[in-house]
Amino acid sequence: RNNNMVKICCIGAGYVGGPTMAVIALKCPAIEVVVVDISIARINAWNSDQLPIYEPGLDDVVKQCRGKNLFFSHEVEKHVFEADIIFVSVNTPTKTCGLGAGKAADLTYWESAARMIGNVSKSDKIVVEKSTVPVRTAEAIEKILTHNNKGVNYQILSNPEFLAEGTAIQDLFNPDRVLIGGRKTPEGQKAVQTLKDVYTQWVPEDRVITANLWSAELSKLAANAFLAQRISSVNAISALCEATGADVAEVAYCIGKDSRIGPKFLNASVGFGGSCFQKDILNLVYICECNGLPEVANYWKQVIKINDYQKSRFVSRVVAPMFNTVSGKKIAVLGFAFKKDTGDTRETPAIDVCKGLLGNNASISIYDPQVTEDQIQRDLTMNKFDWDHPIHLQPMSPTTVKQVSVASDAYEAAKGAHAICILTEWDEFKGLDYQKIYGNMKKPAFLFDGRNVVDVEKLREIGFIVYSIGKPLDPWLLQDVSVVD
Ligand code: UDX
Ligand code: UDX
Ligand code: ADP
Repeated sequence: RNNNMVKICCIGAGYVGGPTMAVIALKCPAIEVVVVDISIARINAWNSDQLPIYEPGLDDVVKQCRGKNLFFSHEVEKHVFEADIIFVSVNTPTKTCGLGAGKAADLTYWESAARMIGNVSKSDKIVVEKSTVPVRTAEAIEKILTHNNKGVNYQILSNPEFLAEGTAIQDLFNPDRVLIGGRKTPEGQKAVQTLKDVYTQWVPEDRVITANLWSAELSKLAANAFLAQRISSVNAISALCEATGADVAEVAYCIGKDSRIGPKFLNASVGFGGSCFQKDILNLVYICECNGLPEVANYWKQVIKINDYQKSRFVSRVVAPMFNTVSGKKIAVLGFAFKKDTGDTRETPAIDVCKGLLGNNASISIYDPQVTEDQIQRDLTMNKFDWDHPIHLQPMSPTTVKQVSVASDAYEAAKGAHAICILTEWDEFKGLDYQKIYGNMKKPAFLFDGRNVVDVEKLREIGFIVYSIGKPLDPWLLQDVSVVD
C-alpha cells in the first residue's frame, strides 16, 4: 500500500497526542490524521480558537492543517475503524489503590482503548504505544488484541515521545531522535518501516532509531530517570553550596564544561515537576522490585527523595528567617506551572511548596501567566496522584482553600506581602520593577527565588533579604544555618 494512502488515528487528545499529531499532519500533507478523545469538551476546544493546552507555536501549526488533513473528533470508534495506524496516547496515571498503589502505572485507560480497538477493527492495524508505559505493556496489549481477533492482524510498535512541554513544537520539528520499537519478525519489521516512512518525511533518516519492543519501552523510562537524576544531583549539591559558601551556578557551569557531562539540564531549582519524571521513576522502581532488584529500585527512589527534600527545604528556608512564623502573613507566589511556557501544573513543585506554607498558616496570593484560578484551587485540594485522572472523570472538588487568592499580575500578588516566592522561571519575572514591588511590601521584605531568575545583588541593593537556591546566603539567613524539617 502506498504511504500516501495511510490514515492515522490517535486516541487521546492531550499534551502528547495533540501536538504530535498536529506536526505529523503539517509535515505529511498526504496523510489524513484524526485525533479522537472521549472528552467532548477537550475535542471542542481543539476545534475552537482557544486550544485546550498552551504551547508556543502550536496554534500556528493547528491553524495550518485543521480541516485539511488534521481533524479532532469524539467519534472514537468510527475513526479507529478507518485507520491503518492507531497511536494510543491516553493517560497512564500512578495507581491510587490496589496492587502497586502509589508506584505502578494504572493501565485502565490503555486497556479500555485496546479492547475498543479489538472490538471495532475489521482491517489490519498497526497499534503504536505513544504514552509512556511499563516495560512489556506492548506484549499485554498484543494479547488483548489477538485474543479478540476476528481475522485481523495487529502489529504493536513502541514509539515513545521525547518532547518537553514549552518546547514541544521545536522538539517535534527537530527531534534528537525518533525511537521505534517492534517485533523482529518480517511483519514486525514491515510495520516499523511504515511508521519510519511517516517520520522521515521531515526527520533525517539517521535520527530514526529502531530497537526491539522492550528496549524502546525501557529507553523512555530510563531517559526520564537520567534527566531527573541530573536535577536531583545538582539540587543535592545546591544544599551543600549553601552550607559552604560555594555558588551552585558556578559549580554547575564548571561541571557542564566536561564534554562527558554536558552543560544542559543542570539548573538547580525548587524541584522538578511535570507529568513524567516522578511517575516514570516510580514505575521504574516498581518494575525493579517486581524483578527482584531492590538495590536498583532503591538507587532510583533516592532521586525522588532528594526532590521531596528540596521542596521541603525550600519551605523551611522561607519560614525560618521570618522569625520562624508565617502565620497570618501574606506571601506572594510568582509562578505555579511546573516550568515556564506551559499552563500545565501536573506535579508542579508549587503544589507542595504552597501546601507547606498553608500548613504554616500563611495566606498566599498566587500569580501565574497561564494557570487559571480553578486549576490552582483544584490542585491545592486534590489528593496525591489524582491529578492524572482526566478532569471529566473526576468529581469536582467541593472545597476551596480560603487562605489562597489568585492575582492577575505580580504587582497585585506582592502588594502588602511579607515575602515573595518565585516558583516558576517565567521570563517576565526577570524584568519586573522590583523597586516598585519593594515599595508596596511589608518590611523587612523577603524574596525567595526557587528558580535562580533574579539578580540577587540588585535586589539586595533595593533592600530585599534574598534567598536564591544554592547561592551564598544573605547574612540574615546565615543565623539559621540548621534548616531541618
Ligand atoms: C520531560 C522530558 O524532558 C521529555 O523528554 C519527556 O518526553 C517528558 O518529560 P517535561 O516534563 O515536559 O519533559 O519538561 P522538562 O523540561 O524535562 O522539565 C521537567 C522539570 O524539571 C521541570 O519542573 C523543570 O523546571 C525541571 N528542571 C529542568 C530543573 O529543575 N532544572 C533543569 O535544569 C531542567
Ligand atoms: C577520573 C576522571 O575521569 C578524571 O576527570 C579525574 O581527573 C580523575 O578520575 P580516571 O579514574 O583516570 O579519571 O578514569 P576514567 O576514564 O574516568 O574511568 C574511571 C573508571 O570508570 C574506570 O574504571 C572505567 O573503566 C570506568 N568507566 C568509565 C565505566 O565503567 N564506564 C564508562 O562509561 C566510563
Ligand atoms: P498526556 O500528557 O500523556 O498527553 P493527557 O492526560 O493530557 O496525557 O491526555 C490523555 C487524553 O486521553 C485525555 O484527554 C483523556 O480524555 C484521553 N483518554 C483516556 N482514555 C481514553 C479512551 N479510552 N478513549 C479516548 N480517549 C481517552
